[in-house]
Amino acid sequence: MLTRTQTMDVSGLRDLAVRMFDEVRKLSFDGVGVTRESYGRGETAAADFLRDLAQAEGLKVETDRAANLVFSLPEDSGEAPAVWSGSHLDSVPQGGNFDGLAGIVAGLLCLIARKRGGALQGPPLKVIGFRGEESAWFGKAYMGSGSLFGKVSPEDLELKQRNSGLTLAESMRGVGADVEAIRARTPLLDKSRVSAYLELHIEQGPVMVARELPLGVVSGIRGNVRHNRITCIGEAGHSGAVPRWLRHDAMFAVADLIMRLDDHWRALLERGIDLVVTTGVVSTDAAEHSISRIPGLVSLSFEARSKSIDTLEGFYELMRTECKAIGRDRGVRFEFDRRLLSEPATMDARICEVLAQACKERASPYEIIPSGAGHDASLFANAGIPSGMIFIRNRNGSHNPDEAMEIDDFMRGVQVLSDAVDRLA
Ligand code: GLV
Ligand code: MN
Ligand code: MN
Repeated sequence: MLTRTQTMDVSGLRDLAVRMFDEVRKLSFDGVGVTRESYGRGETAAADFLRDLAQAEGLKVETDRAANLVFSLPEDSGEAPAVWSGSHLDSVPQGGNFDGLAGIVAGLLCLIARKRGGALQGPPLKVIGFRGEESAWFGKAYMGSGSLFGKVSPEDLELKQRNSGLTLAESMRGVGADVEAIRARTPLLDKSRVSAYLELHIEQGPVMVARELPLGVVSGIRGNVRHNRITCIGEAGHSGAVPRWLRHDAMFAVADLIMRLDDHWRALLERGIDLVVTTGVVSTDAAEHSISRIPGLVSLSFEARSKSIDTLEGFYELMRTECKAIGRDRGVRFEFDRRLLSEPATMDARICEVLAQACKERASPYEIIPSGAGHDASLFANAGIPSGMIFIRNRNGSHNPDEAMEIDDFMRGVQVLSDAVDRLA
């Protein structure tokens, strides 16, 4: 095992990090932000670039049966359980460059430092670049990491890509995944070969900037419960001719639902309960809607996130109860597509301690903070693999083109990641 004084120094890889971020940004720039579609063009462009770069550095690059990229040192025989680290290759449409990519670049820099430094006595490190983490494309998150643990169902494989209309199965097959093994829910990763999972990621909220913290050690990850599409069915009519008491306006019903959920949310927050609620998509049908027509049909998405599974289930029931009540009050009805649940996850206490210790030794201010956003690390933690995450300060939020991570903060995080790998033998 390496001692404290032998830990790898990654500071000489700063320029390489900048080049990797810049090149992948160029390859996936869409005119506004970056677009790296899950199992699509931008994601594959990022994967191809990183594969070539890793091979040029003398690393071994493999593709697993879910078409994720796995990087390691060529000297790693694969016999000893390894520390795994990584994140996702894909992005939301018109997203930012660092969500996901930062974690893969960080892991690769740790491997490149080891390769260039010729230090092979540390614990084996495998770096994974997941495909298909973002729910924006198929309405489902964690497709790449979920496949490793048999968590992608036959129903999931029929979900359609928002633009191409291709099913998830077709899209996965298109990049070489073993869809039949995934459909059969065969675990594609032998958990006994993974001693720990570490993920570096930008913070996607405003807390670390506000608190002037370059790094964060993540305590846990919120889960979520979702519907991609809830349809409210009322009765279309002439906007001038139907009096209020005879209307069945689907839009007013949906607005009523959202306001009722907001009231419940506020009351729960006042009781100290962790919860966020979002309706990210609301639409009338463009083929029929007009300003002079009472909407007879409105569709909306529903998402609630919490650290507590009980809160998620409780709030979900509340939402269904309110839909019934609004149905009675307003003469409308609600129809629901398939409910999707991602469970919350807790990060491993020992790994959090190792990461915190590394921050202290590198004299980096940090705090323990929860993650509001979802991450592949939650799949590893819920599969029983000790997992931990490092957050990097990032301005302007995330899932937008304006993500802004300082390279100095990132390099501090990579050093902490590298130190933690050395300690997790
Ligand atoms: C992942 O990006 C999420 O939606 O939390
Ligand atoms: Mn994201
Ligand atoms: Mn992410």
